[in-house]
Amino acid sequence: MERITVRPNGPLAGTVRIAGAKNSVLKLMAATVLAEGTFVLRNAPRITDVGCMTELLRSMGLAVDRSADVLTIHRPAEITPEAPYELVEAMRASIVVFGPLLAREGWARVALPGGDDFGPRPIDMHLQSLERLGATFETAHGYIEGRAEHLVGTRLLLEFPSVGATENALMAAVLAKGETVIENAAREPEIADLAAFLNRMGANVVGAGSSTITVEGVEELSPVEHEVIPDRIEAATFLAALGVAGGELVLEGARPDHMDMLMQKLGEMGVRTSSHPDGVWGMAPGRLTSADISTLPYPGIATDYKPLFVSMLAVAEGVGIVAENIFAGRFRYVDELVRMGADIRTEDHYAIVRGVPRLSGAPVRAHDIRAGAALVVAGLGAEGETVVADADHIDRGYERFVEKLRAVGADIERG
Ligand code: EPU
Repeated sequence: MERITVRPNGPLAGTVRIAGAKNSVLKLMAATVLAEGTFVLRNAPRITDVGCMTELLRSMGLAVDRSADVLTIHRPAEITPEAPYELVEAMRASIVVFGPLLAREGWARVALPGGDDFGPRPIDMHLQSLERLGATFETAHGYIEGRAEHLVGTRLLLEFPSVGATENALMAAVLAKGETVIENAAREPEIADLAAFLNRMGANVVGAGSSTITVEGVEELSPVEHEVIPDRIEAATFLAALGVAGGELVLEGARPDHMDMLMQKLGEMGVRTSSHPDGVWGMAPGRLTSADISTLPYPGIATDYKPLFVSMLAVAEGVGIVAENIFAGRFRYVDELVRMGADIRTEDHYAIVRGVPRLSGAPVRAHDIRAGAALVVAGLGAEGETVVADADHIDRGYERFVEKLRAVGADIERG
């Protein structure tokens, strides 16, 4: 079991290099099944979820090699279009191979993901979209088998702008016959990155990053080289660390245009940020002021930022009301913060956070990637020692998290 120990050590100072976005690279890796040949992905983060997707691609017959932050993926003519249970269970995002596999192979067999620490996580919108494009599904023994002799473009109106459903539909539509229009599509920067990647491969996608995406299907795609966009959630994590510990940081490589709403909300709370020639600059001069937070699909405040905000609100001046509108069950880590002395009441999908002057370090447990990072952030300002157990969750989404924090002045170590 991985542990991270953190103690307060005053303000942070220096530069942090932001890695490539987890939630982009995983989808780009999935998209490589769409074309035979050799792909190169630069700025690929060294995180365990990329390791999981690597295993999944290898299990299907693709070759994946890494050298520093460059992934080289070779997709042979023949692959086995199956995502086994062990890998889907280890990483839900594996489900995004379904759309591209159906589009390119005509059939695929993917294990049904279960629920997780956020509560139930259905995939009905993924399947409905693929069905509307012409796929048929049968479920047995915990697996869904999909068939699609011919995918045909159509109008897809998503009930909710789901990131994964948009991506699965998009990756299927690029090889469908005719035009597909995805309405109420997710607008996250990672969707725009996927569309840029697909267009470079020869697809014809217009409007990604807005709520209407139009895809004109093409016959064939080719492998390409691509640089993954920076991880806005990693950047947000370091800004939250700044909010709790104080100090001044430059986040090298971060994209301010991907973090508008986050920077605005941080500004309300007293973390100053601006764009910088190298990325994003941030400074937290004193104790933060509370604010209300409501998570929404992009460009709103991401649900992935929320645990970080709760850690900041826990020690801010005043009361903040946090509404979780994406994953109703995503408040489990709050109990861990309460063990550190935070004054938080949760009710349904709300949390009322009354700031206290200081938290007190305690042994706590990371239930998921962002919750784990948020507990480390809280520990940066808490009196005494905070030991975060199950820290391997953090490694799923953060590259060298401990080393990066230590390099800007945090007193932090593994073990
Ligand atoms: N939903 C359905 N049916 C579906 C799909 C989604 O009801 O078929 C619901 C979900 O239950 C949820 C909402 O729609 O209530 C939004 O889920 P979405 O599909 O947008 O999320 P996702 O694609 O499963 C991605 C990120 C998450 C991030 C969410 C929301 C990846 C690999 N994961 O998940 O990131 O929280 O979008 O922005 O891209 C993380 O990085 O730690 C993480 C969990």
